[in-house]
Amino acid sequence: MKSLNRREFMKFAALGTSAAALAACAMPTTAPGAAPAAGSTAASGGATAGGGQLEIFSWWTSGGEVEALNALYEIYSAQFPDVEIVNAALTGGAGQGGNMKALLETRMQGGQPPDSFQVHLGRELIDSHVVPGRMEDLSFLYEEEGLNDVFPKDLIAIASYDGKPYSVPVNIHRSNVLWYRPSKLEAAGVAAVPTTWDEFFEAAEALKAADIPALAVAENEPNFSGHVFENILITQLDQAGYLGLFDGTTSWEDERVTRSLEILNQAYDYANQDYLSTSWGDINDRFVADDGPAMMIMGDWTHGVLLSKAFSDYRWAPAPDTAGMFMVLSDSFGLPKNAPDRDNAVNFLRVCGSREGQDAFNPIKGSIPARTDPDLSKYDEYLLSAMEDFKSNTLLPSIQHGAAVKQSFVLDYAIAINNLATNRDVAAAQAMLVQAAGDAEFGA
Ligand code: GAL
Repeated sequence: MKSLNRREFMKFAALGTSAAALAACAMPTTAPGAAPAAGSTAASGGATAGGGQLEIFSWWTSGGEVEALNALYEIYSAQFPDVEIVNAALTGGAGQGGNMKALLETRMQGGQPPDSFQVHLGRELIDSHVVPGRMEDLSFLYEEEGLNDVFPKDLIAIASYDGKPYSVPVNIHRSNVLWYRPSKLEAAGVAAVPTTWDEFFEAAEALKAADIPALAVAENEPNFSGHVFENILITQLDQAGYLGLFDGTTSWEDERVTRSLEILNQAYDYANQDYLSTSWGDINDRFVADDGPAMMIMGDWTHGVLLSKAFSDYRWAPAPDTAGMFMVLSDSFGLPKNAPDRDNAVNFLRVCGSREGQDAFNPIKGSIPARTDPDLSKYDEYLLSAMEDFKSNTLLPSIQHGAAVKQSFVLDYAIAINNLATNRDVAAAQAMLVQAAGDAEFGA
C-alpha cells in the first residue's frame, strides 16, 4: 500500500500519514519507570485555581470509560481539591456521542460552553469547532507543558489549524479489532480465529450449527454497524482508494463499496437475532454471558469495558482481512472560548497532557497514550501489542469516530448503514451513501 505523503496527510488533517513519520510517533522511547520528559508533570506552571467548578462534557458512561475519566479527575482533585468537578457525561444518540454533541452544539451556540469537552482529533475537532472560531489556541499550553516534544509531530498537526494546536489528545484508539471468545469457537469446533472474511463465514456456519451467534451487533441506534462497515471498507479499498472516498477521487458508487456492503449484509445473517433492538450496553453484557455471541468487531475501548467487568475469557485479532492495518482515532479535550472556569479548564488540560494523566487513563480505557514517553510497565499484553502495531501498520483514519470526515457526513453515513441493518437492501444503502457524499461536497 502506498503511504501518504505529508501534503496528503495535512489535507485530510486526519490520522493517516507516512509510515516513517508515524513510526516516530508510535513507539514509546522511555523504559518502564524512567523519568518523565521535561514539562510532563501534571499542572506544572499552572495557576492554582482557588475553587469554582470544572464542567466536563463527554459520552463516557460505559465500564472502562467511566473509570478512566475518573482516574484523570482523581489526579486533578489531588492538585485542586477545592474545585468541584461536574462530570456532565451523556450517552446515546446517533453516531458516537450523538446526544452529547447535540447538547454541546446548543450550549456552544447559546454562548454557554462547558469548561472542556471530549472531541475526536481530526475533522470533528477542526470542522465542528475550530473553523467556526469557537476554540482557544492552545499554543501557550503546549509550550508551557513541553507537549511539542512529547506528542508525535503528525498528531500535533491533526490537532492543529493554521499551525496552532486546538486540543490535547489523551489517547490513540484502534477501531479494527476482532474480540473473540476462544471457548465459544472451540465449542463449535472452530480451530482458529478467522483472519479473513471467507474464514469468518466458514466459522460463522459452524457457530450457527452450534446455536451460537457469530457476530455481536448492537444497532438499536445508528452507530455500531457504521463502525463495523469502516473496517470492511478497508479490506476492499487500498489506502489511497479509502482516502479517496473523502476527496471525491473514489466514488461511493464504486463496486468495492458495493462489495463491502454485501459482506456486512451477509454478516447480519450470523448476528444476534435481536441486533436491531440491542444497545451498546446490552451487547457488552451479552458478550460476557454464557449464551452470547462469539465475536465482536469493535474498537479497543471494548478492552476497557471487558477489563472493567473483570472478564478474561477473550482474545483479540485484527478484524478480518485487516492484518497490517490500524484504523485510528484519538480522543482529545479542548478549551472553548469563554469557558466559565477557564483556569480550572486549563489545569484539566495540563493533567490530560501529562505523563501521569496519560499513564493513569489509558491502561483503563483500553487505548495507547498519545505521548511517546509512557511508563510501559503500566500497560498490559493487548496494549503493548497495539503500540507495536501502531508503529508498524498502515494507518487509516476512522470515519465513524470523526478522524477522516466532518460530523454531518458521519451522521448520514451511520444512518445509511443503519438502513442496511434494518432493510437489508444493499442498493438502497449505497444510494444513501452516495447522497451523503454529495451533500458533504467531497472534493468540491
Ligand atoms: C469512541 C471514543 C472512544 C469510546 C467509544 C465508545 O468514539 O473515541 O473513546 O468511548 O467511542 O462509544
